[in-house]
Amino acid sequence: MLYAGVDLGTSAVKLLLMDQDGKIQKIVSKEYPLYFPHPGWSEQKPEDWYEQTMAGLKELLADCDKSQLAGISFGGQMHGLVILDDQDQVIRPAILWNDGRTYEECDYLNNVIGKETLSKYTANISFTGFTAPKVLWVKNKEPENFARIAKIMLPKDYLAYKLSGVHCTDVSDASGMLMFDVKNRCWSKEMLEICGVREEQMAKIFESYEVVGTMKPEVAAELGVPETVKVIAGAGDNAAAAVGTGTVGDGMCNISLGTSGTIFISSDKFGVDKFNALHAFAHADGHYHLMGCMLSAASCNKWWMDEIIGTKDYAGEQKAITKLGENHVYFLPYLMGERSPHNNPNARGTFIGMTMDTTRADMTQAVLEGVAFALRDSLEVAKALGIRIERTKICGGGAKSPLWKKIIANVLNLKVDVIESEEGPGLGGAILAAVGCGEYASVKDAADKLVKIIDTVEPDPELASKYDERYAQFREIYPACKPLFDIITK
Ligand code: XUL
Repeated sequence: MLYAGVDLGTSAVKLLLMDQDGKIQKIVSKEYPLYFPHPGWSEQKPEDWYEQTMAGLKELLADCDKSQLAGISFGGQMHGLVILDDQDQVIRPAILWNDGRTYEECDYLNNVIGKETLSKYTANISFTGFTAPKVLWVKNKEPENFARIAKIMLPKDYLAYKLSGVHCTDVSDASGMLMFDVKNRCWSKEMLEICGVREEQMAKIFESYEVVGTMKPEVAAELGVPETVKVIAGAGDNAAAAVGTGTVGDGMCNISLGTSGTIFISSDKFGVDKFNALHAFAHADGHYHLMGCMLSAASCNKWWMDEIIGTKDYAGEQKAITKLGENHVYFLPYLMGERSPHNNPNARGTFIGMTMDTTRADMTQAVLEGVAFALRDSLEVAKALGIRIERTKICGGGAKSPLWKKIIANVLNLKVDVIESEEGPGLGGAILAAVGCGEYASVKDAADKLVKIIDTVEPDPELASKYDERYAQFREIYPACKPLFDIITK
C-alpha cells in the first residue's frame, strides 16, 4: 500500500509518497506566496494551499498505481488562524505563526487574564503567533469578519476539511491555539469564553493518528484514487517532524531547522514549567512534548544568501568558512521578532562586532552561528528545568548543510544523529497515515521500524568549549539591544 504525507510549510507544500515498508517513492514541492502586508505581519491564502496541494498530489501520484493509495495525512505549519463562514468560504487570509500583530491582545491575555490562569487552562501562556490572540485581534479590529465566523481552523486542518469534508483538528496542533486544555486533550471552555467563541465553531478533535474520514468522491475522482482513501488527522509540523525523525518516547530530542527553528523534547508524561518558558503541547504519539521555537532559523540564512549577498550557492559560501569558534561577529536572528525565550515581537535582526578585516565568510558564519546560539537559549531553559539531553535528531532544510550540523553539535554540545531521510513533517505525515490505516500498531512501533540513523555528528570538546565562551558573549547582546528595539519599532 501507499501513504501520502503533506508538509504544509510556510514557503511551500512538500508532498511525499511512502510505501508500507517506509521507502520514500517520490517527493514533490509546490510554492505559494507569503504576504507581509505590514512590517511584522505575515499572511497566506488558504485557497493557495489547497490549489498547490492538489497540483502537488497529482504530480506525486502521476506514475504510481493509484489504486494502492490507502491514506493521506499532514504535518502543518502551526498556530495559523483560518476562519470560514457558514458556507465554508474563507473569510480573510490566514494569519500565520510568525505574525506579530497581536501584541495588544497578548498583553491582555498575559497581564489581565494572567499567565497563571492561562497556564491553568491551557498549560501555556500567550505569544503573538498563537491562535487565541489572533481570534481576539479579529474580534477587536475586524468585528464584521468576526461576526461571520462559523468555523475556526488551523492550516493543515483546512486541507483535511477540503479533502474529507470533516471539520477536524488534532491534539498536537490544537495545543498551539491557547484554546485547548493540553493535559486533558479537549477544548478549554474557559478559553473559548475568553475568546468569545462557541464550541460548535471549533473543529472536532482527534489524536494525530486517527482517521477523520474518507476522501470526498469528487476529490478522489479528480486525483484518480479510490474513494476509500483514508484522511488521517495528522499533526502540527513539529510533532509530525518528531515522528518523521523517530523522536517518540521519553526524553528524545529533535531540532528542526526550517523557516522556524525548534527544539522539541518528547515526554511520556504531561509537564509544564512554572515560567512557561517552553511550550507544553500534546505529542502525535498520544503523549506530550516541550518545545522552544525561534521564528527565523533557516530563513535567516536564506535571507542572507538570496536577498543580501545575492547567491544561490549556499555550499560555495559555506566552503569559505574555516575558523569555527573564532568569529568576532555576532548575529541576532530576530528577523520576525522572537518567540522562545524572549517573547518579543519588537526584537530585530542585528549584526554586531564587524571590523575592517571582517569578511563575507565571517558574516555568513555569524548568521549560521546566531541561529545555533538562539537554539541554545531554549536548550538552556530545558536544562534549567532539570531535563538532561545528550543527543538530538535534526531535520529541515538547514539540516542539509554539514557545516551547520557541526556548528549546532558544538554550540549546543549535543551529539547530532542524522536520519536517512531529513523530510521530517512530510515523512511524519506519511507515517501517521500508515498508522491510521492499521499498517503499524502504534506511532512508536512505526517510528522504531521505519526511521534509521545513518550518521552522528559528535561535538569536539575543544570547539564546544570555545563556543561556550562565544555563547556567553552572545547572551549579553539581546538584553543590551532590547531597549533599542522598542525605540526603533515605535
Ligand atoms: C511552532 C511554530 C513553527 C511553525 C512553523 O510553535 O510556530 O514551528 O509551526 O511552521
